[in-house]
Amino acid sequence: MSDIQTVQVNLEDRSYPVFIGRGARHELAAQINPSVRRIAVVTQDGVPAQLIPEFADLETHTFVIGDGEIHKTLETVQTLCRSFSEAGITRSDLVLGVGGGLVTDVAGFTAAVYHRGLGVMHVATTLLGMIDAAIGGKTGVNIPEGKNLIGAYWQPQAVACDMDALLSLGERDLQCGYGEMAKYHFISRQDLSLLPLGQRIARCVQIKADIVASDERESGQRALLNYGHTLAHAVEIATNFTMPHGVAVSVGILYAAHLAQVMGRIPETRVQEHYDIVHGIYNLQTALPADFDSAAAITSMRRDKKALSSLTFVLDSKDGLQIVDGILEQDLKQAFDALRSRQG
Ligand code: GLY
Repeated sequence: MSDIQTVQVNLEDRSYPVFIGRGARHELAAQINPSVRRIAVVTQDGVPAQLIPEFADLETHTFVIGDGEIHKTLETVQTLCRSFSEAGITRSDLVLGVGGGLVTDVAGFTAAVYHRGLGVMHVATTLLGMIDAAIGGKTGVNIPEGKNLIGAYWQPQAVACDMDALLSLGERDLQCGYGEMAKYHFISRQDLSLLPLGQRIARCVQIKADIVASDERESGQRALLNYGHTLAHAVEIATNFTMPHGVAVSVGILYAAHLAQVMGRIPETRVQEHYDIVHGIYNLQTALPADFDSAAAITSMRRDKKALSSLTFVLDSKDGLQIVDGILEQDLKQAFDALRSRQG
């Protein structure tokens, strides 16, 4: 196990390790509190069974949830709670989410509310889960009015980013991960592309861990992790979630770059650097959907839960990413024109 890297998320008495590498799932057993008798594994059908670690002497119950955003609901959480109860899971037991972001968000939220809260660990099995969703304690489910509008901050006790999982990932899942990975280039202002994949994942985890440690409840810096997400959410809604999240984030990153340029925050050369990373390094072929309605998107972005008093964006500047409030409608429109003009 010597090639397993460890990143610590420092949150005082709720600090926890994130293990990264092939076989990282096997590191979790040593982190389990001795009071735990039962493990409630929450997973999905498509997740390879070998990614669920075995825990000697512990009773393991497996609960399978549905795939797709339509299953990210309170109903799924209630079904899990009832199944946990039938299986005799108690407050001193442990929930283990094994899957991508949907699984870890739902497993984490269920752990936060079942018996008013029990411990949770995750094995992240997608690139997006490894570098974002499984770390940082944001959990939640959707309601028809929006994504993740019901949830809780509930930090895991340990996370495994098991790179064995990457061997079986499909193109769509890889694209989701790459879109989020591109984001970290701009947050850190570093060229991460020279790092081998394992080190790059660890670097992304470290960047996120540092941000979470400094602003767990998103009263400031943590919002930088939403770079590209304001438009991405509007694009996802407009495409009925048929566009992979990571591709939507990439379109959102490019849009944010154009918006920053329109507002005089960055020069054209910096916009080009955004294209170089999104297209050149991650090969994400981003284009707004053909029938995309920019006016409807502006309305949708205004409803985004991250909007404060007016439309808020994370935008680049010569000093790095910043949270910018009060964006003018004419600048939003001009940025759409600039984005479309690059799409031929
Ligand atoms: N996915 C963004 C965050 O954890 O804050």
